[in-house]
Amino acid sequence: MTMMSEPKASRLLLAVLLVGAAAAAGGHDDAVARRTMEEFAGFPASDGGEGPSTAFRVDSEGLQRQIDELASFSDSPAPSVTRVLYSDKDVQARRYIKGIMNQLGLAVREDAVGNIFGSWEGSEAGLGAVGTGSHVDAIPFSGKYDGVLGVLGALEAISLLKRSGFQPKRSLEVIMFTSEEPTRFGISCLGSRLMAGIEELAQSLRKVVDNQNVSFLDAAESAGYKMDPKDLQSVFLKKDSYSAFIELHIEQGPILEKEGIPIGIVTAIAAPASTTVEFEGNGGHAGAVLMPARNDAGLAAAELALAVEKHVLESGSIDTVGTVGILQLHPGAINSIPSKSHLEIDVRDIDEKRRNDVIEKIRRSATEISKNRGVVLSEFKIVNQDPPALSDQSVVEAMEFAAKQLNLEYKKMISRAYHDSLFMARVSPMGMIFIPCYKGYSHKPEEYASPEDMTNGVKVLALTMAKLSLE
Ligand code: GLV
Ligand code: MN
Ligand code: MN
Repeated sequence: MTMMSEPKASRLLLAVLLVGAAAAAGGHDDAVARRTMEEFAGFPASDGGEGPSTAFRVDSEGLQRQIDELASFSDSPAPSVTRVLYSDKDVQARRYIKGIMNQLGLAVREDAVGNIFGSWEGSEAGLGAVGTGSHVDAIPFSGKYDGVLGVLGALEAISLLKRSGFQPKRSLEVIMFTSEEPTRFGISCLGSRLMAGIEELAQSLRKVVDNQNVSFLDAAESAGYKMDPKDLQSVFLKKDSYSAFIELHIEQGPILEKEGIPIGIVTAIAAPASTTVEFEGNGGHAGAVLMPARNDAGLAAAELALAVEKHVLESGSIDTVGTVGILQLHPGAINSIPSKSHLEIDVRDIDEKRRNDVIEKIRRSATEISKNRGVVLSEFKIVNQDPPALSDQSVVEAMEFAAKQLNLEYKKMISRAYHDSLFMARVSPMGMIFIPCYKGYSHKPEEYASPEDMTNGVKVLALTMAKLSLE
């Protein structure tokens, strides 16, 4: 099937007018979306079967089944999910995703660190592709939708477009990014960060080790990604590889559910930063060393954790958040004064300067606490201090267009979680679609998104990609 011969602009205009009319007439969402697709594709959407067409129906049962199957690749018991970079479960999940990409007839390729790409070649494959995707790694004891929806939902969106008979002009590409979560090597969005061409990351990945002292390069090799360190640069994306990138994700916060709005259109992603801090004291026997003689590295860490909360609250903005998610004591025995402590501190804000001011105050507190308690501040390392990212107006408009055609109410909002989109925004116009999640729960086993909400998200994504593919 070839593209219709009508000029593109009039084709789209016609689509807009016809679909607008259908929506105004109160047509069913599916019928509206279907009609849009027909106008995009230039011929009737049909699955060729008898009876009612399923061509523009999201297979929500199939999507849920895939989400459940993927969740079974976990190193912690259900309903929690734990899937850490390059672990056996991560490798199984990768195989699962590649299997679906193959079934859909996508051309599958992987880069040196295991970012996986499933490509549906467009009629003008030389143009920048329209990308979508997310991650399937999962932090310890988390849920089954974070990231996963943006990969499996994107594959369902591709399947939907294929079923509807759509023919892309720009290629459509689903990406499963390697390690969005920082669990193993402390580096968030590792795959997309590297794709964005960050040279310092390519250098640091040559040396970085996990907490078992396994190097990144060895861990990658054990998962089937044996590489020469100089291959790391090959992950950098070539300029203009993507004309647009859209990520579908659960909101991970409570706003959409509370307000009863099915779709969030993300206009910006807040600025994340992470810091590691270590204190060292003399340790000693918990009974024999009297209180005035102690320099307890554990208490220094506890005091710093409270200082983090204080500085964050003092910023005066509800948008400033700070978390001490890791606090480890050495040697970790009830009858031993901690001789070492290790904290990992996450600070975020939509205002980059305000966030940086908080980090500076935390640094000053760490120095002060170490002096007062007679411990050594042996490390204060800013692991990353990323700027926020703005969605691109053209992608926002395409998402709004899609939501309107589907008669779905939407809200423009900020993402307070970070996403691979934060880095894709450096190399492509970017946008994100949010759907509600139960009570805003995320990063815990109770995370849940309803089939209906996921269906809406998949449709908005499909229509957005279809529109952008023809531009
Ligand atoms: C990503 O999962 C984040 O921490 O925002
Ligand atoms: Mn996450
Ligand atoms: Mn995520």
